[in-house]
Amino acid sequence: TGMVTYDAGFVNTASCKSAITYIDGDAGILRYRGYPIEQLAEKSSYLEVSYLLIYGELPTATELAAFEDRIRRHTMLHEDLKAFFNGFPRDAHPMPVLSSAVSALSTFYQDSLDIHDQEQIDLSTVRLLAKLPTIAAYAHKKSVGQPFLYPDNSLSLTENFLRMSFGFPAEPYELDPTIVKALDLLLILHADHEQNCSTSTVRLVGSSQANLYASVSSGIHALSGPLHGGANQAVLEMLGRIQNADYDVKTFMDKVKNKEDGVRLMGFGHRVYKNYDPRAAIIKKTADEIIAKLGGDDEMLDIAKGLEEIALNDDYFIERKLYPNVDFYTGLIYKAMGFPTKMFTVLFALGRAPGWIAQWREMMEDPETKIGRPRQVYVGATERDYQEIGSR
Ligand code: CMC
Repeated sequence: TGMVTYDAGFVNTASCKSAITYIDGDAGILRYRGYPIEQLAEKSSYLEVSYLLIYGELPTATELAAFEDRIRRHTMLHEDLKAFFNGFPRDAHPMPVLSSAVSALSTFYQDSLDIHDQEQIDLSTVRLLAKLPTIAAYAHKKSVGQPFLYPDNSLSLTENFLRMSFGFPAEPYELDPTIVKALDLLLILHADHEQNCSTSTVRLVGSSQANLYASVSSGIHALSGPLHGGANQAVLEMLGRIQNADYDVKTFMDKVKNKEDGVRLMGFGHRVYKNYDPRAAIIKKTADEIIAKLGGDDEMLDIAKGLEEIALNDDYFIERKLYPNVDFYTGLIYKAMGFPTKMFTVLFALGRAPGWIAQWREMMEDPETKIGRPRQVYVGATERDYQEIGSR
C-alpha cells in the first residue's frame, strides 16, 4: 500500500541491512567484516575468509583447524550424485552442470534442509563449501572425457580442487605452489561483494524460506550471465577475437563507443565502483607475476593492457567512470593455470560460495526479513472485453 517508487535495476533501493561486506564505490574500498581486502588478500586463506564471512570474526587457530577438518570430511560426493554427470551432454557448459548438481544436493541431504535448525544450517554450510570444488572438478573432467578423481583429504580444499581438476588416477599429481597460492587468492577476492545480482537472487529465493542448496543453485544461474560472472569468459573471448585479428583494437573500441550491436568492453564498468575496482588492482599485479612464472599468454595480456590504457584515457570511459572490474584480468590467470574458458565462471562461483552462504544465513537470522516481493508500475492495457476467437 502507499506510494510505489520505481527503481529499475534497484539502483537506489537497499533490500536489506547487512554487516558482512562494505563497499565505497567512489573511493574504491572493499572490506569483509571490516577487514580491508588488500590485507586479507595478502595474509589470509580462502577457508579462513569463508569462516570470517559466515561467522563474523576471524577464527582462532583452533577454530580454523576444526573448521578445515570438518570441511575435509565432507568433500566426497554420493556415488549416485556422481552418476548425475553422465546425464549431461559431453559439451555441456559447466555452469548449468554446477547449478544442477547443487540443486540436487537437496535431494541427497534431506536431513539438513530444516532452515529453523541452526545445527542443520551449519551442516549444509559445510556440505556445500566442501562439495562445490568436487562438483566443479567433475564438471570439468566430464567436459574433457577424463576419469573423476576422489578427493584426497591430506590436501587443502584449493589443492584438492586442482588435483581433481587436472590429475589422473594412474599417477601422482604434482601441485605447483604458485598456482595453489594464486587460486586461493582469487577465491578470496571473489568471496563476497554485498548485494550483487547473484547474492540478491540467493536472498530473494531464500526469503521464501527455500533451503540453502536451492537458493545457492539459483544464485549460480544468476552469476552465469555475461553482465555478471559470465563476464570473465566473455573477456577472454573478446581478447581472442582481437588476437585472431577479427578486428583491431581501434575498430573494436569504436564499436564499443558507438554502441554498435550492443558491444561492450567486457570486464569494464561496475554498478557500484566509479573508481578502480580494488580487486582488479590486486589481480592485475598477480596476472603479471603468474604469466611470467607459468609462461601464459603474453600476447593476450598485452592486448588487455592496451585496451585498458586506451579506455582509461578516453573521454567515453572517463565521463562514465568505467574502470576495469574483477573480471578483466582473471581469465588470463585461469588460462595460464590450464583452465578452459568455459570453466572461468565456475571458478567465480567457487569463490562466491561463502558470500552467498553468509548472506543467506544473515537473512534467515534477521528478524526484519520478509519475503522479497517487489512492486511494479503497470503499463499494460486498461480493462477490455474478451473477444470470441472467431471475431478477433
Ligand atoms: N563498455 C562500454 N560502455 C559501458 C560499459 C562497458 N563495459 N559499461 C557501462 N557502459 C556505459 C553504458 O552504455 C552507459 O552509457 P550511457 O550512459 O551512454 O547509456 C553507462 O556506461 C552506464 O552503464 P549502465 O549499463 O547504466 O551501468 P550499470 O550499472 O547498469 O551496469 C555493468 C554495470 C557491470 C553491468 C556494466 O558496466 C557492464 O555491462 N559491463 C560489462 C560486463 C562486465 O564486465 N560485467 C562484470 C561486472 S563486475 C563483477 C561481476 O559481477 O561479475
